[in-house]
Amino acid sequence: MSTPLYDALMEYVKKETVPFHMPGHKQGRVLPKEYIENLAKIDLTEVPGLDNLHNPDGPILEAEKLAAKTFGSKQAFFLVNGSTAGIYAAMYAVLNPTDKVLVMRNSHKSVYNGVVLTQSIPVYLLPEIDYENGIAMGIDVERLEEVLQKERDVKAVVVTYPNYYGFCSDIEKIVDIVHKYGKILIVDEAHGAHFPFSNNLPKSSIKAGADIVVQSLHKTLTSFTQTSILHLNSDRVDVDRLKYSLSLFQSTSPSYILMSSIDMAREYMEKEGKKRLEEVIQLALYVRREIDKMEGIRCLGEDIVGRYGIVDFDVTKLTISVKNLGIEGPEAEDFLRRECNIQVEMSDVYNILAMVTVGDDEKRVKMLLEGLKKLSKNRKRVKFGDRILFPSLPEMELTPSEAVRKKKVRVPFEKAEGAISADFVTPYPPGVPLICPGERIEKDMVKYIEVLYNKGIKVLGIQDNLLSVCEI
Ligand SMILES: Cc1ncc(COP(=O)(O)O)c(C=O)c1O
Repeated sequence: MSTPLYDALMEYVKKETVPFHMPGHKQGRVLPKEYIENLAKIDLTEVPGLDNLHNPDGPILEAEKLAAKTFGSKQAFFLVNGSTAGIYAAMYAVLNPTDKVLVMRNSHKSVYNGVVLTQSIPVYLLPEIDYENGIAMGIDVERLEEVLQKERDVKAVVVTYPNYYGFCSDIEKIVDIVHKYGKILIVDEAHGAHFPFSNNLPKSSIKAGADIVVQSLHKTLTSFTQTSILHLNSDRVDVDRLKYSLSLFQSTSPSYILMSSIDMAREYMEKEGKKRLEEVIQLALYVRREIDKMEGIRCLGEDIVGRYGIVDFDVTKLTISVKNLGIEGPEAEDFLRRECNIQVEMSDVYNILAMVTVGDDEKRVKMLLEGLKKLSKNRKRVKFGDRILFPSLPEMELTPSEAVRKKKVRVPFEKAEGAISADFVTPYPPGVPLICPGERIEKDMVKYIEVLYNKGIKVLGIQDNLLSVCEI
């Protein structure tokens, strides 16, 4: 038998690695036994009585109505292709070709892809960048207002709330400003599906009044990977067009396992999940206090609030800075995996990110603390690069959708001056694209990339010194 993928999965399972990563159910720890046992049996299709996701009038509609009530939205649509599909559908529902859309420059790939799919014209807003910690943080609300005042024909605004690390911009002000200018606000709340269930977490943008909110339930709640909900939360969006858009980006054979797991996650949160979440929040606060006692590492949180457009943060996202240990995040991540059998969610140059969910308990959290204690003794000296400020954004010559349709050629980046980029060029940290498809590469930008290179900063989009440009 040759089953390389299944074998690799089972190898991970057998190691009993402690997961501080997604999905939030943490390998089924909070899923009912009966549900797990019946998974293969409920992998069904649209037989009578089981409804149809694309035109629901039976149990799927009922489950969606319950979800809307629980999460506090007007209407909920189940997604089986993640928030990625929800973001595509939301953008497709409100944007026509050549419409302008305001997007954050550090948006997830799905937002950029949404710009391409809708053939819209992006107006980019740079996030506030915390150079010390190497993270693209929040939105400067005054800057947002300035842009909306200037760009009167913007049709919709897409923001990410919270960011991957759990840091939150001032969503209430953002809702007010976007609505003051009569625009539609789409919120990528992929990392905030748990927000509606606790007053000790940041406010959900559903409650704040955003028009469309997309949440990944698989990330921070207990449903299976690829499950999300698109919440329609206002009357400003054409529901029929939204339904059509959803049908464009989802399978005509949506998985009943996935759909039922959304239903189960909602029910769990309504019953014991809420209480469990409060316990987990307390555990996360305990971990934060313990980390503060360790040398060389610290957990980002309160110190960020009030800076970089951030007004709140999710305590369950443990962004642990290892910068003062003199090691880089990936090395810390490897150390925890090799030496402590712990897998974190991700690492960047300065930080590792561990997430605790309702699937965790005190025992596991203590294992994380033990691992971090060992890590904090693992000092080294790496000379980190100096902070290099983000340059101004390049001119857009072609829209992203025009640029991706052009023939691409690869040129040495030193010779790219004057060319139009066909790809993203993104330094890490902070992971914000310097250049997007369709933008003109000016001399200053080439020089800037050279500086990054010389300082050893990773630049995605440049491989073997080559960069993709549009053949004009
Ligand atoms: C900010 C953000 N938005 C959207 C997505 C897409 O979500 P999904 O994986 O549910 O498709 C992700 C995924 O990592 C994300 O980090």
